[in-house]
Formats: sequence, structure tokens, C-alpha cells
Amino acid sequence: MRSVNQLDRLRLAVAEWQAKGDRVGLVPTMGNLHAGHLGLVRAIRKHCDRVVVSIFVNPTQFGPGEDFQTYPRTLEADLEGLKQEGCDLVWLPDVDTMYPLAESFLVQPPEHLSNTLCGLDRPGHFTGVASVVLRLFNQVRPDVAIFGEKDFQQLLIIRQMVRDLALPIEIQALPTVRESDGLAMSSRNQYLTAAERATAPVLHQTLTELAEKLAAEQPWENSRQSAWDQLEAAGFRPQYLEWLSAEDLGLPQPGRPQRLLVAARLGKARLIDNVGVVC
Ligand code: PAF
Repeated sequence: MRSVNQLDRLRLAVAEWQAKGDRVGLVPTMGNLHAGHLGLVRAIRKHCDRVVVSIFVNPTQFGPGEDFQTYPRTLEADLEGLKQEGCDLVWLPDVDTMYPLAESFLVQPPEHLSNTLCGLDRPGHFTGVASVVLRLFNQVRPDVAIFGEKDFQQLLIIRQMVRDLALPIEIQALPTVRESDGLAMSSRNQYLTAAERATAPVLHQTLTELAEKLAAEQPWENSRQSAWDQLEAAGFRPQYLEWLSAEDLGLPQPGRPQRLLVAARLGKARLIDNVGVVC
């Protein structure tokens, strides 16, 4: 496994592989890798011959007062995990490589996708995400890239960006990787105290129960309110709990993919989760 921090070296490695007919897959990450990230590496292998993993803690997707400075950086352990997983190349750009100009071009996703759910609590977050993912796509030039369904809104925005800008990249998605008690894996889970960690699975349980109620055609407003109350009673501070189209975050349409999405604070951590709805 090679680690590269210069763009020309990255381009050369990828071009050599592609010249031989190898398909190149990209797993974008911010490091602090857990089993969810390693699952992405394993999953993309099925769609490509060479795997590139990028590690870059992207400043433009953190708002003022968010955890950019303190975001866990664990490069040595990350590289070890990636080596075990059979990653071919780790792309480690610095901020100047990613944002070479004093004033950067940024990618503004459409309002209906970005100015809702997490975008309301984190203004500008998805502009930062789209801006860095487009840069990563241009730097690596992968044939395929993979994202986790845990960040469902991010996944939809990236899919839409690829379609809208006609980027020649296939996007794959991996279902959320969970701890054995159902908690979605996230680097931010480590902000939970032991007591909060014991409570945290209630988020997924509540979401799953709500999905079951919808499947049983119980009324949305009442069911949503009891789920919200249940979260508050457990100590969460819910931010949103929505039932939406899994295709464009519009109103859910019968017979089309639907999703329940939630964000809630628990102590210092902001947790998000989502599940599919069948109805
Ligand atoms: O999901 C993440 O880890 C980040 O948002 C991403 C896609 C690597 C962009 O910084």
C-alpha cells in the first residue's frame, strides 16, 4: 500500500492502473477509520480492481463552533487498518493542495436537498461536502466511488451532483454499518460518555419502531410525536425526525423508496440515523 500526498504522484499511479484496464475505486474519508469505513473499502472492491482511500479533514464542511480542531486524527492506526484491508493507495492531500487559492470555488448544492434536515442545523455544511468531493473526484479521477447510507442526505447530494455535472463516475452506496446494539457507527460516537453510550441505541430502536408503525398504516403525526417524546424522555435533544422520499427528500410517494431520517444531540455528540420505510 502506498501513501501519497502529491497530486502528480497520485495522478500517475491512477493513470498507470487505468492504462492497464484496471478500474479504480475511491473511498473518501476524513480518517479516524472504524469498521464502517473498512466496510466501504471491502464493498468497493467488488466494483473495481484498485482501491484508493482519501483521508482529509475538510475544513469547509465544519461550521463555526463545530469540532474541526478537535476532530479525531488517528493517521497511524488508519494506515494500519487500510493495509490490513488491502487498500492500494492512500491519498493524503494537505489544505493547500485541496484549496490552493485564497478564495476558493465552492459547489452550492440545490436548496431542496441542502437547505433541509442537517443543512438547517449546519448551514453551509453540504457546500463544503460537495466542494471537497468534487475536488477529490477531479484529483483521483476514479471510475467508481462509494459512500455510506448513514449520511443519507450527503449521498443524495453527491448522486445529484454526479448526474447534474455529468461526472463519469459510478456512485455506490453501502447500508449503514451498526454496532451490535444497533447504534450507527460514527467517529463522533466517541464523544459519548459511558452513560450516553448506553442510551444511544434508543435512537435506532425508536426509528425502527416508527418505520414499523408507518408500515402498519398508523397515522404519521401521532406516531412521530410519540417517537419524539420517547427520544426526549431518554435524554436526547431531537433536531429533526422526518419521513421523506428517499429519491429527492420530497414528500414520500406510495410505491416509491421512502426514508425516515433523524438527528438528535446526546450530551456533546450529534447523532444521525435513517432507515427505509416500506409502505
Ligand atoms: O462522509 C464523510 O466522511 C465526509 O463528508 C466526506 C464525504 C469524506 C467529505 O469530506
